[in-house]
Amino acid sequence: MSTPKIAVIGLGYVGLPLARLFATKYPVIGFDINEERIKELQSGTDSTLEVEDEILQQVLSDTPQMETGLYCTNQIENISDCNYYIVTVPTPVDHTNRPVLTPLYKSSETVGKVLKKGDVVIYESTVYPGVTEEECVPVLERISGLKFNEDFYVGYSPERINPGDKEHTVEKILKVTSGSTPEVGKQVDRLYASVITAGTHLAPSIKVAEAAKVIENSQRDINIAFVNELAKIFNLMGIDTNAVLEAAGTKWNFLPFKPGLVGGHCIGVDPYYLAQKAQEYGYHPEIILAGRRMNDGMGKYVASEVVKLMVQKDIKIKGSKMLVLGITFKENCPDVRNTKAVDVITNLKSYGAEIHIYDPWASKEEVNEEYGLQIVNQVPDEKFDTIVLAVAHKEFLNIDLRALLNENGVLYDVKGILKCKVEGRL
Ligand SMILES: NC(=O)c1ccc[n+]([C@@H]2O[C@H](COP(=O)([O-])OP(=O)(O)OC[C@H]3O[C@@H](n4cnc5c(N)ncnc54)[C@H](O)[C@@H]3O)[C@@H](O)[C@H]2O)c1
Repeated sequence: MSTPKIAVIGLGYVGLPLARLFATKYPVIGFDINEERIKELQSGTDSTLEVEDEILQQVLSDTPQMETGLYCTNQIENISDCNYYIVTVPTPVDHTNRPVLTPLYKSSETVGKVLKKGDVVIYESTVYPGVTEEECVPVLERISGLKFNEDFYVGYSPERINPGDKEHTVEKILKVTSGSTPEVGKQVDRLYASVITAGTHLAPSIKVAEAAKVIENSQRDINIAFVNELAKIFNLMGIDTNAVLEAAGTKWNFLPFKPGLVGGHCIGVDPYYLAQKAQEYGYHPEIILAGRRMNDGMGKYVASEVVKLMVQKDIKIKGSKMLVLGITFKENCPDVRNTKAVDVITNLKSYGAEIHIYDPWASKEEVNEEYGLQIVNQVPDEKFDTIVLAVAHKEFLNIDLRALLNENGVLYDVKGILKCKVEGRL
């Protein structure tokens, strides 16, 4: 393999930690179309909080010509002498839950403009099986004028990181790799194996690697949907779901999933990629889509449960003061994309409640821009009729909730973290 010079295309939650890791060993050019993101990274700050500023600053380079290190840019000429291009751009769905491949097409055009003989393009974005070879490769060929598997090659290596998880960082997660020929597969595998301490698994084809990633998240989605369904059933029966799960969990092969809101960029989105492709093949994916329907409806369900409890306590809903704790899509991370806490808020608002939102992690500006909602980053100094603990941020365990709640008030703990706290499991 020629000495790698790596371009990472898309410096978000996935791209930046990966670029930082490769930069400890190779020259890496981080490319992103978002000028603001490039500016903040060049100044040594990562607003996603995935890479600590000090760690980022250790690898930052102020020139694109270096032996090792990371140079961040939005200028295409800076990536023209790379021989590996790793694409880590978003793969969202539209409002009808259909896959949006535009960022993949656009970033493939960018790479196509600088592609040279012998180069390898590795896709990391989560996709349905076939996207790399059937959607991205034709763009690379058209723009570069080069021939696939003769002049240039591709690989696919899905990312498994988990935003906000400081334990399972990129180098500590075994990485699935693949290539467009057996030789290129080995080459891609060696590249990742040189930095991933947890090791690699070379899949037999790109489609296998693509499918593996999308089913990892679909499996998780379906399992959570199942316990969400159980929670609904046991709520009707007046049985404590967490206690049931704890009892059942004493069996060796009972899977420890918890009910909750499934949002974010991955688990709530990726199953739709697989479902879409299955439908193109004439198969209606019943279980995958039932899981999605169940999980997508949980925000509305939580809101209706809160309202039910308030009615039982004779609290007038319209005009009542409610505090929602947490708006990010998961705990201890600032990511608010596709957060289902917003569904809870929207539904509670529709009953006429006055909603206050406190989140110590989320950016006020981003929440306002994305959802038109105002949040505060400090614990409010007033009393509420209802508190909904929507996200399990660690800060919430230290709040004196009694001081914030009116005497007859309702406290709804979506994730059951208060029970875990009392029992010393948090
Ligand atoms: N966030 C996660 O934890 C996670 C985990 C595993 C897999 N994934 C997958 O990884 C992919 C990336 O996700 P993410 O969370 O890092 O997204 P992100 O939105 O945080 O980052 C994507 C970056 O790509 C940039 N970008 C968009 N179009 C571009 C283009 N044409 N050229 C260059 N840059 C471009 C954006 O400006 C952004 O900075 C997705 O497919 C996602 O499903 C994400």
